[in-house]
This record gives sequence, structure tokens and C-alpha cells, in this order.
Amino acid sequence: MIFNGKGGEKDRLVNPCAGIDEFDAEYSLRPKNLSEYIGQDKAKENLSVFIEAAKARGEELDHVLLYGSPGLGKTTLAMIIANELGVNIRVTSGPAVEKPGDLAAILTNLQNGDVLFIDEIHRLSRQVEEILYPAMEDYALDIIIGKGPSAQSIRIDLPRFTLVGATTRAGQLTNPLRDRFGVIQRLELYDRRHLCEIIMRSSVILAIPTMKDGAEEIACRSRGTPRIANRLLKRVRDFAEVLGDGKITKELANIALSRLEIDKLGLDSLDRRYLEIMIKGFGGGPAGLDTLSSALGEEAVTLEDVCEPFLMQLGFVAKTPRGRTATALAYKHLGITPAGQLTIDA
Ligand code: ADE
Repeated sequence: MIFNGKGGEKDRLVNPCAGIDEFDAEYSLRPKNLSEYIGQDKAKENLSVFIEAAKARGEELDHVLLYGSPGLGKTTLAMIIANELGVNIRVTSGPAVEKPGDLAAILTNLQNGDVLFIDEIHRLSRQVEEILYPAMEDYALDIIIGKGPSAQSIRIDLPRFTLVGATTRAGQLTNPLRDRFGVIQRLELYDRRHLCEIIMRSSVILAIPTMKDGAEEIACRSRGTPRIANRLLKRVRDFAEVLGDGKITKELANIALSRLEIDKLGLDSLDRRYLEIMIKGFGGGPAGLDTLSSALGEEAVTLEDVCEPFLMQLGFVAKTPRGRTATALAYKHLGITPAGQLTIDA
């Protein structure tokens, strides 16, 4: 695998984005083939058919777009696709490919059949994206030499390759780019059973003695996201080794996750502050993203990409044309009575 850089995100325990160091740390936990990969059954079954068919025809796999929230295994699946096809993978990301020349260099260095993985593909600039169109469609690179009336366009043949693009925001992809993917696959949040299996599998690899009820406790608080589950597993292990006998039991996981301020639903202190400010500061909303961002002292993108999708999935926050609002479920979770509603003591 050739790795070509990846942007880091905020250092938050329940942030589903990988930190800079985490990419390598996660490597050992990544399943290497489809049969080891837990969950995402629809994506797995479809990809396995497409891979088998391409191999049987002796052709390269059609370009694949994977989309879904951060931490659901898009990079892992790209690596599995390359592994199942028996080819090399070259990894880069939208923000790392700054100029058309950067992409041209990557494309001309590919070998026939290789997988090129572009993470955060929605962040490619338009100029870079335009290099991709003929590359994806005709395996060709169009280069303009010279300027003005004497400028000439020459076409260079590229190796036949499979582009695997990953994005958290399929809606931000331009139509011409999206249309060039033959396979478009959405990844879903994981249910508790699959997260529990992932935690048990990681525990075996990392030699952490984890009881099933301990894994379940971590799974419930992992926001449907394997990356968060694996991160919490490692932090809970620290508590188990220092406060207990090293074993992750339900009780120990409970203590550790409370100390980490991650509540029963997986909300952390930023999620709770978000809801509290909305409710206590803005009467439950509507409040605009920028208003909430200033009030919390957090970047708007962090709120939008990390807090809000999960809070909306829980039904705690709704987006309206006038801004965000907290729902009755959010009030209930925080134990706050909505204004104008009487509390009647028994
Ligand atoms: N580790 C992280 N994601 C995984 C998955 N989907 N299956 C198995 N192990 C994983």
C-alpha cells in the first residue's frame, strides 16, 4: 500500500474521524478480506459479486463510490477490494491532491489493475476533478502543452485501474463525477450486535480479556461506529488494567465510560453542551449553526459533521429552515422540563 497523506480532525473520543496516528494504529484491527468483515451485509454481498465477476472476466473492477458517515469502514473496504482482487492499492485523499499535476503523477505511476483510493473525494478541486473524467472513462490523461493559439492537447494512455472514492457527503459530489462510478454503495451505521462482534474480534487481536457483557456496554455507547468502538475499547482497557484485574466486564466498562463522560446513549460532554445551550440559551431553538458554534466555541464543521448527525439520528435535534431545534426527546434525556409544561410531583 502506498499512503499519500490524510487530514487529521479534532481529538475527541467519540469523534468518528481518524486522527493522524490512528490510521496506522487501526491497521492491525482492519479485516483483510470480505469474510472477516463484520456487518454492512448488503454492501459486502454486492461487492463480492462484482469482484468475482470482474475476476472471472479477467477485467478490472468498475469504479466504486463508497459513502456514509466517518468511521464506518470505507477505507477498510477499499483495502479489502484491492486484496480480494489481488492488486496493489494506492491511497490518497481529496485535500492531499492539490494540483492537477499531483493527480497526473499518481495516475501515471499506477500499474494495470491497481486500485486508487481517494478518501474525501468531495474535496477535490474542480481542476483536479477534470483530470479524473478522461482517466475514469477512457484510462487517458489529456495534457495541454503551451499557451494561447499554439497550445496543443496530447493524450497519454494510462494503466487500467479501479478508482475507489469515499465520501461522507455524496450530495456534494458533482454530477459528472458521480455518474462515472459504476458501483455506488452506501454504508450504514452498525447495529449493536455487529459492533459487539467487532469489539470481541478486536479484543482477541489486542489480547484484551473482554466479557460479552463488557463488549455490549461499549457497543451501546459507540454511535454505531466501529472506529469509536475500537477507540473506546482501548480506553476501557486502560481503566481495567489500572482499576481492576485487566478484564473488561460490564461493571468495569460502565465505570470507565462514566469517567470518560460518555453517557448510556454515547453522547459526550460536547453533545450535552450543544443540547443544553440550545435548550437553556435559545429556548430550545430554532438556533443557527453559526450561533451555536460561537456559543460553544467549537467549529461549525465539527458540530455539523460529528455532533449533529448522531443527535439527529437519535431524534434529539431537528433541522428546520429557521435553524436547529431540540426535540422533546432531548429535553427528556437531559432531564429538563420544557418551558410552559408543568411538572407534577407524585
Ligand atoms: N474493525 C473495524 N471495522 C470492522 C468490521 N466491519 N469488521 C471487522 N472488524 C472491524
